[in-house]
Amino acid sequence: MEFTATAAKTQGNGRGLTKGPAADSRLKMLAATMKRQQYQPDALIEVLHTAQELYGYLDLDLLVYIAHGLKLPPSRVYGVATFYHFFSLKPKGKHTCVVCMGTACYVKGAATLVKTIEDYADIRTGETRADGSMSLIQARCIGACGIAPAAVLDGTVVGNQTPASIVGHVKGWLENGSDRAA
Ligand code: FES
Repeated sequence: MEFTATAAKTQGNGRGLTKGPAADSRLKMLAATMKRQQYQPDALIEVLHTAQELYGYLDLDLLVYIAHGLKLPPSRVYGVATFYHFFSLKPKGKHTCVVCMGTACYVKGAATLVKTIEDYADIRTGETRADGSMSLIQARCIGACGIAPAAVLDGTVVGNQTPASIVGHVKGWLENGSDRAA
């Protein structure tokens, strides 16, 4: 899709990102990243990396939000996001599992969660299963440290995960074709 002013408007100028408490923590993390970079346009790549870690991919709402934050033309942000192959503008797999590997989550067993998912779903972190059913991504911190270890399953933040609970979600995706995290 070409990035136009009309597209930006119809995508809500980032307002859709603020729906629901789950979205808020990630949005706060993204806002904190832009603030830490003093809203410098030069920080665009770093901010896009953070956004992709948090959300799994960069949709138009996110790109517009970032453009506003860094005071860049949305077309420039879109251009950069599409130029580099490591950015994805849509989910690669039908389902996306982002496991937080930030400090709070790590000390509470996030690495075990990742290993469990990798083994169960026959997938490696950063990859999408051959059948396209799911992608597995790691993030540094998704702003939900109070419920560590945390993950984001198809956009829904889930906390206090155990290997059994997270595999339960993934199992539902792989066996039942469920579109949402339970
Ligand atoms: S370290 Fe995982 S949510 Fe902050």
